[in-house]
Amino acid sequence: MLDHEQVVIRVGRRSGLPVIVAVHSTALGPAAGGLRLWHYPDWRDALTDALRLAAGMTRKMAVAGLPSGGGKTVVALPEGTRLGLDRRHAVLRDVADVIASLDGAYATGPDVGTGPADMAVIGETTPHVFCRPAELGGSGDSSPHTALGALAAVRAVGRHLYGTPALGGRRLAVIGLGRVGEHLARLLAAEGAELTVTDTDPGRRATADALGAAWRGPEEILAEEVDIVVPAALGSLLTEESVPRLRCRAVAGPANDQLATAAIAELMQRQNIVWVPDFVVGAGGVVHAVSAELHRAGPEEARARVLAVERTVGDLLAAAERDGVTPAAAAEETARRRLDAAGHGIRPKPVHAPQPEVTVR
Ligand code: PHE
Repeated sequence: MLDHEQVVIRVGRRSGLPVIVAVHSTALGPAAGGLRLWHYPDWRDALTDALRLAAGMTRKMAVAGLPSGGGKTVVALPEGTRLGLDRRHAVLRDVADVIASLDGAYATGPDVGTGPADMAVIGETTPHVFCRPAELGGSGDSSPHTALGALAAVRAVGRHLYGTPALGGRRLAVIGLGRVGEHLARLLAAEGAELTVTDTDPGRRATADALGAAWRGPEEILAEEVDIVVPAALGSLLTEESVPRLRCRAVAGPANDQLATAAIAELMQRQNIVWVPDFVVGAGGVVHAVSAELHRAGPEEARARVLAVERTVGDLLAAAERDGVTPAAAAEETARRRLDAAGHGIRPKPVHAPQPEVTVR
């Protein structure tokens, strides 16, 4: 059964590429979720991704306590294509048209393959876009905030496992040194953590060296003996094959959609590995953007809300332990409770405009 409110698939009239927008839920408020511009063997794979990622955004918002819903946009680039500037512009205009047609039910933002400059282009067509550059009135790049929230999450895991959030000497494996992963690795290095890192792009090795981090291949790193594995790359890395190879106490990172199937959460629990759901760890970016742009929070307040991820994760791990369930089940339960309280369903007409003060739990 389709569990989403609406899914639009339209072949862009300028680019000829399929633009997929999945709006999972607007029960808590207008949906938000980034634009992923990525390579897929087939557009149907992009559709699968969009559906899963959009549902993840609904959970992300609900657990973060934001009055927003979840959605996602994916543009499937055929494997091997590199977009030149003109083609990229055409794609962004095509995406903007689809978003504009949704009339405020969904606003986009950056995700894998896109950033503030792309949001600026979309903003020429529709106001329903987050993270345009500051000069244009947006809140800018979300990745440093996602990284900060993920740092807060890792600290909470540290406190849960070792009784202290301090990360000095803690062995951490960061998977992926993209926009978020690189920021996060820097933050963790600054906390004195002992880092092992990887990226599918061997060119990233220079970054590892600059951080004093050990480098491993993407396959090897999963079996690294560390305290916490921190996924910050593309999804579905936790599978029935990879989980038995893990030699860590916990996995907590901002990469979206880390589990190949929901059952992997229990498999990890049986292996005595704490898995903190990605949609909890990775909320910082969207929390910051929504707080700054919709709720008009100042920089201090927005930062405080991002850092609140530490408490959210701490509470979640405590609740999971108390109730004898996985942290994933505890997070799902929190999300479900908040969605039920809002009474699912599609709201009248959502607006992308300043909203009343909210408290982020
Ligand atoms: N890429 C962000 C995420 O997955 C999505 C996002 C960031 C959306 C900022 C809007 C604003 O959470």
